[in-house]
Amino acid sequence: MKTGKVDALLGIVFGDEGKGKIVDFFTPKYDVVARFAGGPNAGHTIIFDGKKFVLRSIPSGIFDEGKVNIIGNGCVIAPDLFMAEARELEAAGYDLTNRLHISKRAHLILPTHRVLDRAYEAAKGKGKVGTTGKGIGPTYSDKAARIGLRVGDILEGFEEKYQALKARHEQILRDLHYTDYDISDDERNWMAGVEYMRRFQLSDTELEINQLLREGKNVLAEGAQGSLLDIDHGTYPFVSSSSTTCGGVCTGLGVAPGTIGEVFGIFKAYSTRVGSGPFPVELFDETGDTIRRIGNEYGAVTGRNRRCGWIDLVALKYAIMINGVTQLVMMKGDVLDDFATIKVCTAYRKNGETTTTMPYDTAGWEAVYEELPGWQTDLTAIRDEKDFPPAFKAYISYLEEQLATPIRIVSVGPDREATIIR
Ligand code: GDP
Ligand code: IMO
Ligand code: MG
Repeated sequence: MKTGKVDALLGIVFGDEGKGKIVDFFTPKYDVVARFAGGPNAGHTIIFDGKKFVLRSIPSGIFDEGKVNIIGNGCVIAPDLFMAEARELEAAGYDLTNRLHISKRAHLILPTHRVLDRAYEAAKGKGKVGTTGKGIGPTYSDKAARIGLRVGDILEGFEEKYQALKARHEQILRDLHYTDYDISDDERNWMAGVEYMRRFQLSDTELEINQLLREGKNVLAEGAQGSLLDIDHGTYPFVSSSSTTCGGVCTGLGVAPGTIGEVFGIFKAYSTRVGSGPFPVELFDETGDTIRRIGNEYGAVTGRNRRCGWIDLVALKYAIMINGVTQLVMMKGDVLDDFATIKVCTAYRKNGETTTTMPYDTAGWEAVYEELPGWQTDLTAIRDEKDFPPAFKAYISYLEEQLATPIRIVSVGPDREATIIR
């Protein structure tokens, strides 16, 4: 019997690569779209028919009415933010109730987790991670400490469990002398969110997904964040708190390694990072400002400036290796349209030493560049590879050769339509 496959679409840099756009674009080919990691720290933008949506917890397959969307066990979910996000989709005419399934094993982000996120960041001072403030780290910490609250807890004896965990958080906050906060409004809205969640299928999604695979259905696993923000393989401690890499698909959905099919690695034609942490390719000059302005590189969740730089092959090679990427997806080539030359980081250098493999700590390493000619052509209206200017074709070929992986999709604009299959 032919069983289905789980293909993964993974951000392979520091997040915001354009995952939302490509998951939405790929959805017609799949039966199920599932998030396996992260929570409302994600902001996935989808633009079509003159409409724009930014999804945080809900999978980007939600706009295709016939498809099942799953929030898997590896995710964390904030009921109040989830409610706001779902209502926005419902107001836009999308009926979610029978199409959105939430794992009972996913962990709940409490209002006090968000306060703890702020308190821990404040205590770190200069070494702060620059988190999204959504309570991600404290929630995954409680999961690992085996004291977290899960979606399934909503179904039985919830109030008591909630009060116990909240009291524990309040004690930690007192110990940290972080007492100037008021969650009363937040808490009311959060509880309303918990009630709202009950209308959805809160289920054993790992059983569901495996049943669907046995029926020959195909699943697209939608990554959140990026490989360099992975708790194990990212630039620790300046990372998020979940497994954003391919291994996270198996643990975050409850699917076996053998079910994994294609692994799509998505990246931009240049680099960005939001939050703190080492970033060898970062540009502090006018070029960086130009990329930010043209690329509209401001956080979808926090509105913060994204740090910008040239593409980083050291980081990309590492991420391709860790994830077993089989195909690449390159986004935002159009943002580089005006540059006469394009730089590519091929190695890092520190104290006379040069490396082309990812160091343990990338802090203090500077980027070594090669220069390629720019295409100085407007790419945004192109819909066929044969119309690409020669210098853009050469850029793609150069990257494919360096990364030893084919670039199968090229995106030249934010709209669903501006996507070219090669
Ligand atoms: P995600 O978190 O990986 O889903 O990415 P984000 O939505 O946070 O950030 C990607 C941004 O780039 C969004 O504003 C998209 O609308 C936009 N975008 C996606 N693809 C392209 C592209 O090819 N060209 C341009 N100019 N913008 C794009
Ligand atoms: P998407 O899915 C970009 C960054 C934060 C911070 C670090 C830890 O839209 O690509 P957290 O709140 O997770 O504890 O923050 O990770 N970060 C992201 N950066 N895109 C994201 O998601 C991110 N999610 C978290 O800026 O540096
Ligand atoms: Mg994003």
